[in-house]
Amino acid sequence: MLSKYRSVSRFLEKLSENAKPQNNVSKRFISTKEVMDREGKYAAHNYHPLPVALTKGEGVFVWDMEGKRYFDYLSGYSANNFGHCHPKIVQALQSQSGILHHTSRAFYSDTFGEYAEMITKLFGYDKLLPMNTGVEADDTACKISRKWGYYKKNIPKNEAKIIFASENFWGRSLAAISASTDPTSFEGYGPFMPGFSCVPYNDLKALEKALCDPLVCAFMVEPIQGEAGIVVPHEGYLKGVRELCTKYNVLFIADEIQTGLGRTGKRLAVDYENVKPDILVLGKSLGGGVYPVSACLADDEFMMVIEPGTHGSTFGGNPLGAKVAIAALEILEGDNVAENAFRMGDIFRTELRKKLDKDIVIEIRGKGLLNAIVINRNYIDAWDICLKLKEQGLIAKHTHENIIRLAPPLIINKEQLKESLDIIVKTINSIEKK
Ligand SMILES: Cc1ncc(COP(=O)(O)O)c(C=O)c1O
Repeated sequence: MLSKYRSVSRFLEKLSENAKPQNNVSKRFISTKEVMDREGKYAAHNYHPLPVALTKGEGVFVWDMEGKRYFDYLSGYSANNFGHCHPKIVQALQSQSGILHHTSRAFYSDTFGEYAEMITKLFGYDKLLPMNTGVEADDTACKISRKWGYYKKNIPKNEAKIIFASENFWGRSLAAISASTDPTSFEGYGPFMPGFSCVPYNDLKALEKALCDPLVCAFMVEPIQGEAGIVVPHEGYLKGVRELCTKYNVLFIADEIQTGLGRTGKRLAVDYENVKPDILVLGKSLGGGVYPVSACLADDEFMMVIEPGTHGSTFGGNPLGAKVAIAALEILEGDNVAENAFRMGDIFRTELRKKLDKDIVIEIRGKGLLNAIVINRNYIDAWDICLKLKEQGLIAKHTHENIIRLAPPLIINKEQLKESLDIIVKTINSIEKK
């Protein structure tokens, strides 16, 4: 390969030419098949992507190498809540990257403080602890809780316990998979983190039994379980969690990395029950889909157990990420994104419930624009439906063999929703019954 280009510099030139953005997407550089083959050869096989190779995105749409347009019903696992290449996000990224992109928090920066003030005031917490990815922020919440447990709740050294809900998902680190009940996540990666255990989701009785152990410092839970298949708990569950955590002096950590920032039709999913978690964890679309930005928010009584040097991250709170997050929050609030997700989500579920063949689809569930359809596997697997949807111009991904997550960007309008609903209904209803 190298000899073909005679020199290393020519080889690198060729590589960067291929990487140049295409203004005209129908102009063919390399085919979908070539993109797939290259990734398969040079990248680890830790994902099983749908056979589609994307090269451009705008709003709710993405385009493949051959110029075919798709509705994006995954939204980068909810990182693209504000759509692809939102002009305000792109502008924030471009302008701040030419001013000051990274300092580390060894120094103060004007943008980080601006962002910290904005996000804490918006969500009603005293302090922000900035991280980059979701899993780091959840891990941070666990660390704050353990330290609070030792310093404030007087749990004996190294004996603190954290309770999670079964079927939780909060990433792929060793700590996260130690809390997982899904063998696909944890099998082959032991030994695991001590002090972690699970109770069934949506079960307040089981939770109370676990929380009355005086060694428990925190309960971490998703207000709607995302990766588990968009599992919506009964009304009152989050209120019950709040009450039990208060009763037993245990921190309530809400993992709103997927459900937060408008995704479920409210600013936060906990807003449906008007509860305030002790630690709120955000990520994904906080970085506008262009930059990893995550956050732990808590009041001083919890956050101030973290002292200088005891926790941190090289990139956490950098000026570039801070500016992007400010832009993301401005869009969330200024463009009434959550309200749109609420209205579009209502139409979406109502139409699907009315129109989808009830033999093929067992259940349609969700809130706002975080929805799922549960497929009857006697007819077809969720993966095969995703392939059929792709052929019809809509990309979505399954979670489990029988569940398809449907989560378009929250800026989707009525016409776009209607067009994509037509694709979903026609595709599913045309499945041949055995
Ligand atoms: C609820 C929840 N928490 C945490 C994470 C981990 O986020 P990240 O992949 O950015 O580490 C995810 C990712 O899907 C998630 O859905």
